[in-house]
Amino acid sequence: TFLHARFKSKGKLYLGNILDGNTLHDTSITNVLRSEFGSITAEYSWKWSRIQPKEGEFHFEGADAVFDWAVANKKLIRGHTLIWHQNIPEWVNATTDKTKLTEVIQEHIRQVVGRYKGHVYAWDVVNEPFEEDGHFRNSVFWRVLKEDFFDVAFHAAREADPNAKLYLNEYNLDYAGPKIDALLALVDRLQKRGVPIDGIGSQAHLTLGKAGSVPAQLLRLAATGLDIALTELDIRIPRPVTDAKLVQQQAEYEMVVKACVDIPNCIGITLWGVSDRNSWVNATLPQFESPLLWDKDYKRKAAYRGLEVLL
Ligand code: XIL
Repeated sequence: TFLHARFKSKGKLYLGNILDGNTLHDTSITNVLRSEFGSITAEYSWKWSRIQPKEGEFHFEGADAVFDWAVANKKLIRGHTLIWHQNIPEWVNATTDKTKLTEVIQEHIRQVVGRYKGHVYAWDVVNEPFEEDGHFRNSVFWRVLKEDFFDVAFHAAREADPNAKLYLNEYNLDYAGPKIDALLALVDRLQKRGVPIDGIGSQAHLTLGKAGSVPAQLLRLAATGLDIALTELDIRIPRPVTDAKLVQQQAEYEMVVKACVDIPNCIGITLWGVSDRNSWVNATLPQFESPLLWDKDYKRKAAYRGLEVLL
């Protein structure tokens, strides 16, 4: 595990990546995961609608496939994700009763976290709860339970696996503004009322040209005293890709990874993909492309070489 081992030598826990049904049988990807990365996150098969599409019907085939690969290859595992407004089935979205939704959350977490108890290093317990303006997102969880849904979810996760690190995960924490302010204020309230939170995940889905503010914002997250991780790092390039943009991408990868290296409680980084061929950006943000360290032909990009030198 070349990059991972180098990153660990800087005092960090892991440099990780994602895996799922789309890449599990692609040896161009799994060979890179084996030789370069020390941690695995499931890209989609650990999400609610995949695991519990109908109430009480749990399907762990896809989730287990990623888990089994990670265990067989001795990778640390990050669990992603328990409570998220996306990828939830309609029967959850339609719940309006407080007691019912509380029980639904507790049962989902008990089953999912319980299944992998003792084997998951950290869980993204709540994912993306904020709007850009700092208001809570209008999810079913917020509508029905208000801020209590954090308490319910984190306590349930702690109970189901007392040794797993429990994270609040969010995107666009890379810039100063109302979103990171609101998140830090929430973390403070959660800590004051004894909610078991261990870490903040900053997804770090970046756009080229925007990495400059990352180090300062990462320091603000770290000042909470919690563990900090970059959980979904990629740096997408506005089309068309040019050599100059690829060089700039290298510099921005170096800057972001160095920011984590320099902060003692920034414990790990997960990249959201190996090859530009498979990135979520291709389908979701089509004005952008080429966000990762390997190109569409699985060749190492300038950004990879940059990290190799940095680490
Ligand atoms: C994305 C996956 O990459 C896609 O394959 C899936 O279809 C949708 O979810 N923030 C997150 C991740 O927390 O779970 C998302 O992953 C990307 C944005």
